[in-house]
Amino acid sequence: MIISFEGGEGTGKSTHAKILCAHLEQHGLPWLSFREPGGSPFSEDIRGLFFHEGLDTITELLLILASRRENVVNLVRPALEQGKVVIIDRFIDSTLAYQGVLGGLGIGRVRELMEKTETWIEPDLTFVLDVDPGRALKRIVPGDKFELREPAYHQRLRQAFLDLAVGARHCIIDADRPRDQVSAEILSAVDRELQLPGG
Ligand code: TMP
Repeated sequence: MIISFEGGEGTGKSTHAKILCAHLEQHGLPWLSFREPGGSPFSEDIRGLFFHEGLDTITELLLILASRRENVVNLVRPALEQGKVVIIDRFIDSTLAYQGVLGGLGIGRVRELMEKTETWIEPDLTFVLDVDPGRALKRIVPGDKFELREPAYHQRLRQAFLDLAVGARHCIIDADRPRDQVSAEILSAVDRELQLPGG
């Protein structure tokens, strides 16, 4: 099973991915968790390139797809074969939102490229953490080129994630609540999906 966390900057994806790993651990379930871009040493190297200022959007997309391709082949497929739950902090929906919508490449074109490169894998469950960007950005110290963009960019990004979250796998989570409330909602959705007691 693959579970992805998506959403704008500062919405708490990494925190909730970690809480989920601890929850699976408590239930004795094997898991693998990583972030994108990043994960394997190779993809972490690509992450450094990806954050170069002024990159062409198609170059950005190609870097993401190279990173994802390595992750799919070397991390995701083996983990699934071993029966692990794979938790990914940003995945295909981030590519559709950032490069497809905000970057102007178009959702159809970006998805087609992912399909052609066999990097289009739909998670079983996707949590879209939703927080007003004005509030979310106060939770972080903006550092990379995306985080430093103007407020209107982050508002459009939020809307892009909400517009993309129409599949049966998508769960939009109001993440502007105390952390325990947010994680309780996420964990009970996972328990239901995994048919764990209490789910
Ligand atoms: P983060 O790990 O702090 O969320 O940073 C990852 C950044 O990379 C974030 O700003 C979103 C961006 N990104 C894309 O533009 N496209 C993608 O496909 C992914 C996975 C991330």
